[in-house]
Amino acid sequence: MNSPSNHPSTRVSIIGAGKVGSTLAQRIAEKNLADVVLLDIVEGWSQGVALDLMQARGVERHDRQIVGTNHYTDTANSNIIVIAAGIPRKPGINREDLIKINARIVTEAAKSAIAHSPEAILIVVTNPLDIMTYLAWEATGLPKHRVMGMAGILDSARFQTFIAMELGVSIAQINATVLGSHGDLMVPLPRYSTVNGIPIAQLMDAGAIDRIVQRTRHGGAEIVGLMKTGSAYFAPASSTCLMVESILLNQSRLFPCSVYLDGEYGVQNIFLGVPCRLGYQGVEQVVELELSDTEKAALIESGKVVSQNIEEAKAILKTAATKE
Ligand code: LAC
Repeated sequence: MNSPSNHPSTRVSIIGAGKVGSTLAQRIAEKNLADVVLLDIVEGWSQGVALDLMQARGVERHDRQIVGTNHYTDTANSNIIVIAAGIPRKPGINREDLIKINARIVTEAAKSAIAHSPEAILIVVTNPLDIMTYLAWEATGLPKHRVMGMAGILDSARFQTFIAMELGVSIAQINATVLGSHGDLMVPLPRYSTVNGIPIAQLMDAGAIDRIVQRTRHGGAEIVGLMKTGSAYFAPASSTCLMVESILLNQSRLFPCSVYLDGEYGVQNIFLGVPCRLGYQGVEQVVELELSDTEKAALIESGKVVSQNIEEAKAILKTAATKE
């Protein structure tokens, strides 16, 4: 069972020891949130990362265990499973290939991990995010409140960053909200983005808001463009860690995550980024904000595309299965 307390046996398993998975392991252990099991298919890799993180403990002064493994049995009885496996967005990989490769990896990983931790909460980080979260939910058959995708916190953090840069104010005073899918059709909400409670429209002109909204929408792609052979991982890992923290410490924090919608916001049967509260049960509540007609239309449009993409992903998976 998920325990609400920071019990020493609290365990988070991270599937995929790439940049996001490894950085997340570091954050969880160094924040003293849980022991971490890091699983990867490459033999020796996650063991090496885990040993390196273990050797940092004396300097960082924590007693959390970090274990690297290639076997799902070692992930047994985890409170939370994070799926960070798969290939990242990078130049040269088209969308269809990304879906094909990652859908297989994510569904297999989710099923294998949940088989050993049937009570766990599942957080999906792999792209295309809203689609992979849906497929993981479907593959595991978990109740909807125990499956969620990380994107809204990251997208909001990017919006927050660009607001701080534009105004030259401390990031600590800024709250920003981005809903919708993790991609070009995400829905940054300037009306719900403030500097110490003051809506940003009172502090910058429409042109500036438009510019940073666009930059937020392309936040991930801008980094891929710079890095060329990979994608962002520090902010994605920090954002995932916040979800882990809110669940393990039963904080009921409210932030946007990709969650199953069953009519909320007029959207049905998909995972989409909306504000929700996370506690030790998982998604405790989906919060329905009052949206203007334009904002609502943008969210519904974003959901429509996710819905089409889920159908496309299912078709790709079916074709791939019949070819075998
Ligand atoms: C990003 C990619 C990883 O937003 O989705 O950085």
